Amino acid sequence: MDKIKEIRGYELIDSRGNPTVGCFVSTVRGAKGFAIVPSGASTGIHEAAELRDNDKKRFMGKGVKKAVNNINTVIAPAVIEGGIFSQRELDSFLISLDGSENKEKLGANAILGVSIAFAKAAAASFNLPLYRYLGGINAYTLPVPMMNILNGGAHAKNNLDVQEFMIVPKGINGFSEQLRAGCEIYHSLGKLLKEKGLQGGVGDEGGFAPDLYGDEEALELISEAILRAGYSHNQVGIALDVAASEWVKDSAYLLPKKGSVMTSDALVDYYMELTEKYPVLSIEDGVGEDDFDGWKKLTACLSKKINLVGDDLFATNVKRLEMGVEKCIANSVLVKLNQIGTLSETLEVIEMGKKYGYKSIISHRSGESEDSFIADLSVAVNAPFIKSGAPARSDRTAKYNRLLIIEKEI
Ligand code: PGA
Ligand code: ZN
Repeated sequence: MDKIKEIRGYELIDSRGNPTVGCFVSTVRGAKGFAIVPSGASTGIHEAAELRDNDKKRFMGKGVKKAVNNINTVIAPAVIEGGIFSQRELDSFLISLDGSENKEKLGANAILGVSIAFAKAAAASFNLPLYRYLGGINAYTLPVPMMNILNGGAHAKNNLDVQEFMIVPKGINGFSEQLRAGCEIYHSLGKLLKEKGLQGGVGDEGGFAPDLYGDEEALELISEAILRAGYSHNQVGIALDVAASEWVKDSAYLLPKKGSVMTSDALVDYYMELTEKYPVLSIEDGVGEDDFDGWKKLTACLSKKINLVGDDLFATNVKRLEMGVEKCIANSVLVKLNQIGTLSETLEVIEMGKKYGYKSIISHRSGESEDSFIADLSVAVNAPFIKSGAPARSDRTAKYNRLLIIEKEI
C-alpha cells in the first residue's frame, strides 16, 4: 500500500483575481496530486466556512494564508503521521481534526484542497484516470453541459437580477455535439447582442452581461440565438439559476437591481408563466434557502414539468437533503464540493440523491481555476448534468475540455 509523503499548501489566485487555496500531495511511491479550491460569490448560509485572513492590508482581507498555514503545520504532520491511504479515512480524519460543525477551525478551503489533491494522488498511485479511480467500472456516461451564456445577479455589474441563464442541449446526442451546440449558440447570442447595440462584456462565469429591460428580454434573446444557430427548442432548452437566497428581505424578496419587491407566491406564479412562454427546463434556487413554504408551492406547481434544483437550499449537505426529502421539495440537487468541504461527504450527497430520485448537477463556483476535478467527478458518478459556465474562458473550458478527452477514452 502506498502512503502519503508530503502535503503542501499554496496561496494562489482564482478567476476573479482573489486568493484561493492550492494543495499538493505526493506519495512514497512518487504519485502526485494537485488541487485548486474554488470560491463562490452568492454563497448560501448553510455552506461550510471558507477561512479568509481578514487582514485588510492584503487582498482586501481575502488572503488565505491562515488556511494554507493550517495545511502545512496542522493537517500535513497529523495526516502523514497517521499513515492514511484511503479517501474516507482521510476525510473523516480531517473532519475530526477540525472538530467544528462547519469546518471553520481549519477552513473548508484548507480541508477540501487536501481532500481533492489526495484523491488525485491516489488515482495516480493506482495508475488510473481520475474518473475511473473515483467511479470504477461503473463510470460510463458523460453529463449534459449546462452552459451559462448570460450572466446577472451577483456575477455581473449589469441590471439583471437573475444570476444565470444557461443553455442545455438535452435533445442532442453526445457530449462533443452538445458542446458544439453550446459554442455556436454562444456566438449566435454574441452577434445578436451586437446587432442590438447591447454590449457589456462578460460576467464572472464567461456569459455575456448586457443591460436589458429585464429577465424576459434575456429569455427572448437566448430563445432566438438558439434558433439562429440552427437548433430547435426541443434540442436545446434554457435553465435559470435565480439564486433567490440573494433576494431575501424580511419575509419577502427584494430584487436588488430592479428594486421591486415580490412574495414567494408571486415568484412561483412568475416562473409558471415563464415555463409556458419559453423553453425553460430547469430552475435553480427559485426561492430562498429557508423558504420551505415557497419551495413546497414551487415543487407542487412545477416539479412534474421541469427540474427544480436546490443549490443554497441543500448546500451539498446530507442533512439538508434529508430534510428536503422529508418535506418533498425540489427534485434535483446541485453539487459543489466546497459547500461541504470533503470529497467523501460530496459523494454521500450524490448517493442520497440517487436513492431518492434527485438528479445531481455537478457544479463549479463563480470563482474558479484551471482545476478540472469536477469533470472527472461528473463521469465517475454518472451525473446527468454538469454546470461549468460559458463555453469560453479557460477557467470554464478546462472542465469541458477534460470531458471531451474523457469522451474519447470511454
Ligand atoms: P456561486 O454561484 O459560486 O457564486 O455561488 C454559482 C451558483 O449559484 O450556482
Ligand atoms: Zn446556484
